[in-house]
Amino acid sequence: MNFETASLNPHSQFILNNQNTMPALGFGTYKLKGQEAYDAVIHALEAGYTMIDTAHFYDNEQEVGRALADKIAAGELRREDIFVTTKIWNEDQRNNRQEEKFHESLKLLGLDYLDLMLIHWPVAEKYHDTWKILEDKQKAGLVKNIGICNFEHSQLTDLMNTAQVCPQVNQMEHHPYMQDLKTKELCDHLGIVYQAWSPLGRGMELKDPHIAKIAQHHNKSAAQVLLRWHLQSGICAIPKSGNKDRIYENIRLFDFELSREEMKLISSLDKQERVSAKSAPLCFDF
Ligand code: A2P
Repeated sequence: MNFETASLNPHSQFILNNQNTMPALGFGTYKLKGQEAYDAVIHALEAGYTMIDTAHFYDNEQEVGRALADKIAAGELRREDIFVTTKIWNEDQRNNRQEEKFHESLKLLGLDYLDLMLIHWPVAEKYHDTWKILEDKQKAGLVKNIGICNFEHSQLTDLMNTAQVCPQVNQMEHHPYMQDLKTKELCDHLGIVYQAWSPLGRGMELKDPHIAKIAQHHNKSAAQVLLRWHLQSGICAIPKSGNKDRIYENIRLFDFELSREEMKLISSLDKQERVSAKSAPLCFDF
């Protein structure tokens, strides 16, 4: 993983361990459905996001695909300028439908290749098989990059025992109150980009008095401080919003910088508090 935190700008990219590139900031679409999902992706593309994160489980791939297709048809963007991520769901791993679902995602998105396909959760006894399928799809040119989500240190270590291709990305819950530095260190060691889902802690940290004080000092919002903290930590962030103003707010991160002391203070807020107690990688039950 290669990423220059000293000169962050709207075009900052990670260089992945296969030498492909990935934008530093993306747009998350969890919980956005139907027309709301379509409108939000249109706003995100117009605001300047170049990475869109969806998942088969989110049930919005069709709307995401329609928004992309409309913008491409209007001549406002080219397919190659947008980085599209989706994910293979747990039940589809359990039922050995990974192959079928891979193609269904492509079809719903209306794309002939994906930029990134992730294993959504480390379903025990299944993720080795799922990984092999993703390796084959990557070899066939149907997906440029492959990765995992919610793989803690022990699960990533186990996957690496059989993997032929090292994951390009590990997408983890990450925000000041929930940091897994042991896994982050292993990812750094393997050249895997650490990508934060729920980088705003689904709103938890927006009221934190330390964050509020730093935000006031920079004349920025708490959300902008949180997102800037991720980027300056070398972590990719994919904030979700269904609100046009907040979609624009969350990409205006490149006209201020957090000091070393501010970075340290935010990093010290960790309390291992997840947005849901049920979503710990070692004991999720869905
Ligand atoms: P909304 O969609 O109404 O904007 P996360 O990405 O950490 O999961 O956080 C998503 C949550 O944070 C959503 O509830 C979203 O609500 C809210 N949110 C997103 N951006 C902002 C922002 N700039 N300020 C306040 N809340 C935000």
